[in-house]
Amino acid sequence: MDAHVLVTYASKYGATEDIAKSIGEVLRQAGLPTDVLPIDRVHNVLPYRAVILGSAVYVGGWRKEAVSFLKSYKHMLAERPVWLFSSGPTGEGDPVELVKGWRIPAKLKPIVEHIQPRDIAVFHGALDTQQLNVIEKWMIKNVKAPVGDFRDWDAINFWARGIADALKDAVVDDACLTYHSLPT
Ligand SMILES: Cc1cc2nc3c(=O)[nH]c(=O)nc-3n(C[C@H](O)[C@H](O)[C@H](O)COP(=O)(O)O)c2cc1C
Repeated sequence: MDAHVLVTYASKYGATEDIAKSIGEVLRQAGLPTDVLPIDRVHNVLPYRAVILGSAVYVGGWRKEAVSFLKSYKHMLAERPVWLFSSGPTGEGDPVELVKGWRIPAKLKPIVEHIQPRDIAVFHGALDTQQLNVIEKWMIKNVKAPVGDFRDWDAINFWARGIADALKDAVVDDACLTYHSLPT
């Protein structure tokens, strides 16, 4: 049986969850068995051949459950292909420029350097003020963050297709290695 791919996410209001589900759908359509799970429901990464992990960004950082996950599983993650993404900036333009060139919260850099992810993406997020609590509403108003759904599904699906291609190439490489190492 094919080992599954894991897409796991930390989301407060659902924007990151939708992104994770869309990535999972692209991988499944490419023929890769994929589990899409909230990060607090993942208790083992051993069964997975690859992990895609995303978090919403709040006040410049990843959600704490995503940080704990990275810390807990950093050794296992370093042994398999990993892709990371953030769901954050709202407003038009390059999301990396919107977060001033930031790719991963500074605090996470040592762990991320250990894991050596294949890629790190920053995607536009979505803000619906009706979902926010009073303090969050005040913060958003204070920093004048653009409100609305800025998620770029073309960019998200393009990134996911790149992951699918990389994982499918790896399956072909493994099959060739097995074939060539068979006794003649
Ligand atoms: C209180 C608050 C603080 C936020 N801080 C940031 C931030 O520092 N950087 C950023 O890019 N986005 C920030 N955002 C935007 C969220 O990351 C964005 O809305 C994200 O897509 C939400 O994902 P979720 O619905 O999965 O929780 C903030 C949103 C709120 C409500």
